[in-house]
Amino acid sequence: MSVAQGRTKKVTTHVLSEMKMRGEKIAMLTAYDYSLAKIVDNAGVDVILVGDSASNVMAGWETTLPITLDQMIYHGASVVRAVHRSLVVVDMPFGTYQGNSKEALTSAIRIMKETAADAVKLEGGSEILESINRILSAGIPVMGHLGLTPQSIHKFGTYTVRAKQEEEAKKLVEDAKLLEEAGCFAIVLEKIPAGLGAVVAQEVKIPVIGIGAGNQVDGQVLVLHDMLGINQEFSPRFLRRYHNLFAEITGAVGNYVEDVKSVDFPSEREQY
Ligand code: KIV
Repeated sequence: MSVAQGRTKKVTTHVLSEMKMRGEKIAMLTAYDYSLAKIVDNAGVDVILVGDSASNVMAGWETTLPITLDQMIYHGASVVRAVHRSLVVVDMPFGTYQGNSKEALTSAIRIMKETAADAVKLEGGSEILESINRILSAGIPVMGHLGLTPQSIHKFGTYTVRAKQEEEAKKLVEDAKLLEEAGCFAIVLEKIPAGLGAVVAQEVKIPVIGIGAGNQVDGQVLVLHDMLGINQEFSPRFLRRYHNLFAEITGAVGNYVEDVKSVDFPSEREQY
């Protein structure tokens, strides 16, 4: 049993802050449904993100933009019902917080009330600060997300590494400080140079969780379906595959089909 598996105490934003202070890395993964969230929580993951990547891996959309607030609430509530220990964060979907801080608060309140999650995550820095402030003023914990922010993919025009140029890197560091000052409890940094990830993690006191941001940040996050090898369509450099569930499931389903066709299944013992 791993150290993390032996722990039963619920992870809170305060626990994450303590982990950063004592240099203990934070393990975060996505989950979108009850059954897999139960496994992820039981395996000792500190933070479960109900990511809007559900739009890609659960619904098959090319981007994260189409997923709706109702759909995120459905996924969030399913995950929360499975989890005992991990901190559960729900992504606020595209169109529910940008440009209208009152709507942002209404959306965040719906997420907290209807899923019973622990926090919400929003993508962006200074441009969405008003929304972040309003959500925080209602006592809702907010996780920020900077660097490659997939909800802005049409603005970027590419999923390539962000903030390689000085100007963008400078804005990213400034945004991280703004998020910290506003009261965010953590920040996700996606697909940026490792050196910049290290700078941000040093510059702010709140935990910085990376996905393609190097190993000098305070923790790591991956999309569950990518790291388990269920989804084969996505192979960025930062992704480590821990399993090839695509092959395993294909094999198991293939065996089932063969057994049905050959009337090997069900056997005498498998019928009444
Ligand atoms: O939606 C998601 O899964 C995310 C992670 C990539 C951090 O935001």
